[in-house]
Parts: sequence; structure tokens; C-alpha cells
Amino acid sequence: MTILEIIEAPDARLKVKSKPVEAVDDSVRRLLDDMLDSMYEAKGIGLAAIQVGASKRILVIDLAENDEKKPLFVVNPEIISSSDELAVYSEGCLSVPEHYADIERPATVKVRYLDYNGDQQEQTMTGLLATCIQHEIDHLDGILFIDHLSRLKRSMVLKKLEKARKLEAVT
Ligand code: NI
Repeated sequence: MTILEIIEAPDARLKVKSKPVEAVDDSVRRLLDDMLDSMYEAKGIGLAAIQVGASKRILVIDLAENDEKKPLFVVNPEIISSSDELAVYSEGCLSVPEHYADIERPATVKVRYLDYNGDQQEQTMTGLLATCIQHEIDHLDGILFIDHLSRLKRSMVLKKLEKARKLEAVT
């Protein structure tokens, strides 16, 4: 198990559009495993590969609230339909530490993806899972949840993050 370093905004790598995976092989599975361990270590509920510097269309999610782990491994996800009905959640992100904002997204999405074994799956997702997978798929397209905010709010968050990082560097 390897704990990977999670990239924090502002960082140009987080704006990269990730590339599809050609085959779910052992190297992809190793990345999925390391991403999951890194996500648990950081106490997150979702993580996209680009957040650990790999520009591949890969993400992991685990919404289990107790100690029982229920990982969801997702490769090359595609949203094939989304509801007109919207839902609002207060979102956070391991790459945008200590900031949260209400973001509105489709309440239900149907997602096609490859699983840990490379088998194609189609799953209808609702509630927090729907929000979480849309947030993670955004990462694969170089979009952060703060990109859904007004330019003013976004630049305030980014300035605070930069300032916090500079303080960290000198202390
Ligand atoms: Ni995120």
C-alpha cells in the first residue's frame, strides 16, 4: 500500500483533462488500490486520479459511514443521462482543504463505467452518490467544485489557500 500525495489548489495539474484508460490492467488496479488507501488516509469520500497527479479517467468513492468499507472503483465513467431535478449538497474536496460550498447538480445520474475487473457497468445513482460521482467526473475534466461558484467567490477561496500554503512553508 502506498499513500499518494494529494495535490491542492491552486495547481495547474488540477486543470488538466484526463485521458481514457485503454485497459484495466494490473497497473491500473494498483493505482485504484493506492488511490483508495490515500483517500481513506485523508478521510475523503471520493478521489480522482488527477488529484494524485495521474491524468487518467479513474476515480474511487466510498460513502460508507461506519468502519465497513464499500469502495466503488470507476474507470472511464460517462454520464449517459441526468435528471432535470436538481439537488444541493455542501461540497468539499481534498484538493480544496477546509472550504465548503453549496453546489447544485442533477439529483440522479445514470453512469456507464468499467469496474475493477474491467467489466462494463451501468448504474443509476442518486443522493450523495450522484453528487459525489459528478464532482469526481468534473475532476477528470479539470473542473473543481469551486469552478461552479462565482468568479469572486472562487478567487477568494484560491487566495486563502495560497496564503495558507505560504504560511505553512515558513512555519
Ligand atoms: Ni474533489
